[in-house]
Amino acid sequence: MRFNVSEINECIRTRRTIAPEFFSERKVQKELIEVMLENARWAPTHKLTQPWRFKVFYGKGLESFAEWHGETYKQITPEDKFKAPKYRKMKERPLKASAVIAIIMKRDEKESLPEVEEIASVSAAVQNMYLTASAYGLAAYWGSGGLTYTQEMKDYLGIGEKDQCLGLFYIGYPSIEWPKKTERMERRLVTEWVE
Ligand SMILES: Cc1cc2nc3c(=O)[nH]c(=O)nc-3n(C[C@H](O)[C@H](O)[C@H](O)COP(=O)(O)O)c2cc1C
Repeated sequence: MRFNVSEINECIRTRRTIAPEFFSERKVQKELIEVMLENARWAPTHKLTQPWRFKVFYGKGLESFAEWHGETYKQITPEDKFKAPKYRKMKERPLKASAVIAIIMKRDEKESLPEVEEIASVSAAVQNMYLTASAYGLAAYWGSGGLTYTQEMKDYLGIGEKDQCLGLFYIGYPSIEWPKKTERMERRLVTEWVE
């Protein structure tokens, strides 16, 4: 065995999503976020296209992102659909985090593989970040609501037409006890052995 497998199993199985509403005031140092990003880039990638891109909003950058997030929701939402509590949430939620990382899939220019493989690869990179957070006891949250799939988000991130934002990854310290396991389908229900 190359590593302490029981610890790795525990880290994977107890990894949990913790929403920003349960983040404490304590700020996560940049160095730790760099470790998460470093681990992200070691995810599997077919034909080594390495489609993951990350835009990290931190400090003043996070403040302006939060402002843009709220105001853009207001701008693009028809009046009859606009909800003031949602507007406040869009504006205030990023500020509960130490950093918000935009998860981006950069489409291979030659389109040498199906798009689904590049999305899969970025998802694996995000899992690496989630697991790193789990190991450090940091709270992490992958959110794909709100503006995630809008053209406004693409423009704000400065990404190409064929690229995609896959969500926002919020990082902080938890203000609550580490959450218990969520429900999962039993292994036998999701696996078929053919022997
Ligand atoms: C692609 C993707 C998008 C997600 N988007 C959201 C979201 O918009 N809002 C949310 O509450 N959770 C979101 N989640 C997190 C899931 O809700 C969470 O993983 C699930 O509840 C299982 O909990 P766990 O991560 O603690 O095991 C997302 C997860 C993935 C993989």
